[in-house]
Amino acid sequence: MSRIKLHSLTLACAVAVSMPSAVAMGSKPRIDVESANLRIQPVARVELAASGPKVAVGSRSGENMIKAACGACHNAGVAGAPKTGDQGAWAPRIALGLDGLLKSAIAGKNAMPPKGGVADATEDEIKRAIVVMANQSGASFK
Ligand code: HEC
Repeated sequence: MSRIKLHSLTLACAVAVSMPSAVAMGSKPRIDVESANLRIQPVARVELAASGPKVAVGSRSGENMIKAACGACHNAGVAGAPKTGDQGAWAPRIALGLDGLLKSAIAGKNAMPPKGGVADATEDEIKRAIVVMANQSGASFK
């Protein structure tokens, strides 16, 4: 009699012990991860929307660069910068060719800071900005 009682007690313990581990190893954590992802997702989307159309370094277009930096001087011709659209100011510079302009834009020239002040700009990004500004000023760079 006491043997049977002991056996059923052992069984009950085994069930009680295995229950939490079954929960831990079973589907519950997976559900938690999924619901956590669902909770995170809208937040991530809001953050992206709040930061606006931020373009990754290396992928910025000429227009992105001009808006962020070059335009501050070149839109109005500040500090002796050749004004975008001013063909007379750009003609002798365009004559240097795209490679020549790229070299001086990267190195800087007088009041023109190196890379127009965009320290993390890639060569391609600087080139795109030059193409846009120069082409609006009489060049036909590609
Ligand atoms: C702080 C003002 C300023 C900013 C910002 C600026 N520039 Fe300039 N840039 C100048 C000035 C001033 C010159 C004229 C330099 C000279 O010839 O004395 C110039 C000249 C140039 C030239 C002609 C270089 C040559 O050899 O004649 C190019 C090309 C140019 N800038 C491209 C850019 C690009 C691209 C950017 C943005 C990434 C930029 N600049 C941002 C001031 C600026």
